[in-house]
Amino acid sequence: MRKSRLFAGVVVVVLAGVGIALYNNGNTRADDVADNQMTAADPAKPDAAAVTRGAYVAAQGDCAACHTAPGGKPYAGGYAIQTPFGAINSSNITPDRTHGIGDWTERDFFRAVRHGKRKDGALLYPAMPYNAYVKMNDADLHDLWAYMRSLQPVSQAPTPNTLGFPYNIRLAMLGWNLLYFNNAGYVADPKQSDAWNRGRYLVDGAGHCAACHTSKNALGGDTSAYLQGAELLGGYAPEITNNPHLGLGNWSEPQVAQYLKTGSNDKAVAAGAMGEAVEHSTQYLTDADTAAIAGYLKSLPGSNAQAPTALAGDNPVMKRGAHLYETNCMACHNVSGEGIKGMVTAFTDNSGIRAPSAANLVGTVLKGGRAAATESNVTAAGMPSFAWKLNDADIAAVLTFVRNSWGNAAPEVHAQEVAKARSDLKLVDAVH
Ligand code: HEC
Ligand code: HEC
Ligand code: HEC
Repeated sequence: MRKSRLFAGVVVVVLAGVGIALYNNGNTRADDVADNQMTAADPAKPDAAAVTRGAYVAAQGDCAACHTAPGGKPYAGGYAIQTPFGAINSSNITPDRTHGIGDWTERDFFRAVRHGKRKDGALLYPAMPYNAYVKMNDADLHDLWAYMRSLQPVSQAPTPNTLGFPYNIRLAMLGWNLLYFNNAGYVADPKQSDAWNRGRYLVDGAGHCAACHTSKNALGGDTSAYLQGAELLGGYAPEITNNPHLGLGNWSEPQVAQYLKTGSNDKAVAAGAMGEAVEHSTQYLTDADTAAIAGYLKSLPGSNAQAPTALAGDNPVMKRGAHLYETNCMACHNVSGEGIKGMVTAFTDNSGIRAPSAANLVGTVLKGGRAAATESNVTAAGMPSFAWKLNDADIAAVLTFVRNSWGNAAPEVHAQEVAKARSDLKLVDAVH
């Protein structure tokens, strides 16, 4: 009797807790413009200064990259984001009244961007990084809205998603939000400098760096290994804390800033998903903002992952790799893996090369690649595809060699891993 009453009490408390959490997560009042000091933009009187500032906020948030289909009109949507559950297509966010957000109010926009709620009340999928954008402040969002209103409307219907059951049920996002969405704005740390706070504001908010650099659990929520590296579909976003072995510990702050601004420095060349982030977003950041991000990232201790012991040079896989390196890679990556500054990735002292996952490296050797083309680095260098030339064991050996030479030490790459990537990428077998 007593026991069951206690049980019922616990259930009531738990339900109340869930209810409050749901209410708080769904409660958008705290962010409504009208409740703050900010006045809503008057559509009849565009504010040119706000539009200019908003264009900069859009670049910080990389909104165009996800909301523009390849070859499509800017912000008209239809870009497919591949998730393990199916493809989610981005929406048309031009001011078109039928297919875009032309009949939205500023409030509707705030709710969508910061709370993942559409005008019609449906919940957005976190493929739209509202869980990061929630940290963006009212002033930035207001300017962003002014900018979005200034765009040319594009009458283009959104592409339907290809999510399978049960992931096509938007209401399920209520549960996701409850578990992983923290409906709280950016809270400055008064013990840190303004620059540090600006850096964290950009990294956690508009920059949504954790979307790629923080590993996810089975349901796609962030783990606590903040910015400590994560597998992406067909790639790997390395640790970007100050960890010396796997992170940016041996990059200086100016080197981090230079990488974000130009897409390369004398340590690394941004390619793949990061190449795109640099091209569409970070190259447009002011020097003060790239410096702030660099300072913040360098202040994070990160994981305390230790270097494994490098494989010995007389190991047969290492010998085979050394030979393959000499004949296929040395012309560009240089005699001792030093690369070509600003053009070809250096393998020496490069934490990306030592990452626990070799997925990026395998992908690059199979597909080839292209460095980010930025305003300051117009002719992006290319890396040829070796899929046709080297077989799975060759690629595994040459990468094992690179990952265990010139001061690097990392787990061996196996032929099975290369074979899997080759079939995932639908690439041909090597000719011999
Ligand atoms: C990583 C990709 C990505 C980025 C970056 C991104 N979005 Fe989205 N956005 C999406 C996807 C995908 C959807 C649709 C999600 C869905 O259908 O649930 C979406 C939906 C939206 C919607 C809802 C539109 C509607 O009609 O339902 C708005 C508004 C929006 N995004 C604005 C923005 C703004 C503003 C930015 C930049 C600050 C931005 N997005 C950046 C992927 C992205
Ligand atoms: C869409 C996914 C994505 C987003 C968003 C993203 N990154 Fe990256 N990042 C990557 C990938 C993938 C790499 C590895 C690139 C390579 O090997 O060429 C990378 C590499 C880097 C590196 C170089 C690390 C090294 O050791 O070589 C830095 C620094 C970096 N990112 C910082 C950032 C910052 C700061 C942000 C947010 C403003 C950010 N990234 C947002 C995917 C992303
Ligand atoms: C014609 C010049 C050229 C040759 C030959 C070449 N590379 Fe590259 N490589 C590049 C350039 C340029 C980049 C930077 C752009 C990129 O990452 O796609 C690069 C990048 C890479 C990366 C970095 C990927 C990352 O995620 O940071 C790896 C690994 C790599 N190459 C391995 C090899 C191996 C192994 C060989 C020989 C089998 C080879 N490369 C041959 C030019 C070359």
